Amino acid sequence: MSKVPFVNYGLQYKDLKSEIDGTMQDVLARGDLILRKDTDEFERRLAEFVGTKYAVALNSGTDALFFSLLTAGIGKGDEVITVSHTFVASIATIVQAGATPILIDVAEDFEMDVSKLEEAITEKTKAIILVHLNGRMSNIDKVMEIAQKHNLIVIEDAAQALGAKYNGKRAGLTGYSGCFSFYPAKILGCFGDGGGLTTNDEKVAEHVRLLRDHGQKTKTEIMCFGWNSRLDNLQAAVLNVKMNHLESWLNRRRAIASLYNEGLKEVGRIKVPPAPDNGIYFDVFQNYVLRVEDRDALFAYLKENGVETLIKDPIANHNHPGLKLSYFKLPMSEQLAKEVISLPMYPELTDEQVKYVIGCVKNFYSKK
Ligand SMILES: Cc1ncc(COP(=O)(O)O)c(C=O)c1O
Repeated sequence: MSKVPFVNYGLQYKDLKSEIDGTMQDVLARGDLILRKDTDEFERRLAEFVGTKYAVALNSGTDALFFSLLTAGIGKGDEVITVSHTFVASIATIVQAGATPILIDVAEDFEMDVSKLEEAITEKTKAIILVHLNGRMSNIDKVMEIAQKHNLIVIEDAAQALGAKYNGKRAGLTGYSGCFSFYPAKILGCFGDGGGLTTNDEKVAEHVRLLRDHGQKTKTEIMCFGWNSRLDNLQAAVLNVKMNHLESWLNRRRAIASLYNEGLKEVGRIKVPPAPDNGIYFDVFQNYVLRVEDRDALFAYLKENGVETLIKDPIANHNHPGLKLSYFKLPMSEQLAKEVISLPMYPELTDEQVKYVIGCVKNFYSKK
């Protein structure tokens, strides 16, 4: 095994083994497998954590985005603005809803370049999918102001931002909906796929509850056509256990980011991300992403030295030929595709491991 793996799911399980095993056995013994009390409890806790009135558990963050668009009545002939520099699901769901994605560029901090937003709005625009990337929120205040002026809704793609804040407000609190992913590598990850939607609008919550369960209000009443997008009750039970550790994990991620930033800030040819407490931002570092020169050589050097890293977007989303979006010209997103690299980031990393990674990165640039 590498000295510093990029993810280590087994470690977290080992730490929580007795709690998780106990909960899973309890769920199995009860036979509570689909939409049972653990799911209700998880929804209550997610809503409470984010600060919304409602949360609906789903089987992915992708479906949270898709259902947000559907409940807002967005489809053919409508345009939805988002960024290219994101996970592809933020864009794909717009296409799946039948609408047209309009992609704009990001700023230096990888978040939507809000100065480019108004010029992208047309009379067909219905919504903005505002992505909070890497555990940092976008400037939701400014985006809400522009959206209100143009009568648009803001769907928060908070798949990477559970616990992040802007101006004291948590990701997923302010927009039409907040869309979360509980994929294993996420800040709060289950043992497979999982997702959730937060909202303050009761009608949206009710509609999403129908869409996730084939439109069934009760076993005998079908209100509309829907999908099967239920979060397994067993996964909800696991997430309830993990929720107890969320605050301490967020603190640990922020502490690791501070160590990385401190250790790497003086290294030339590297740009470290903003510090965890950066004015009105409260960043939670789903990912710790550097902008570097000689990115591919750094990746290889770290691998040789037992450090696994990730180059997630070597091609900007809009430039994947299969997506047919290359008519968008987005200089910063295209530049980032050449420069970004993610270092290992999870609460179980030890300070020694973080220092080892820092030492390797420093060695690489001192030799060049
Ligand atoms: C920014 C972003 N949006 C949406 C998603 C989709 O979430 P899921 O994988 O749970 O469908 C992800 C997950 O990686 C993501 O990072």
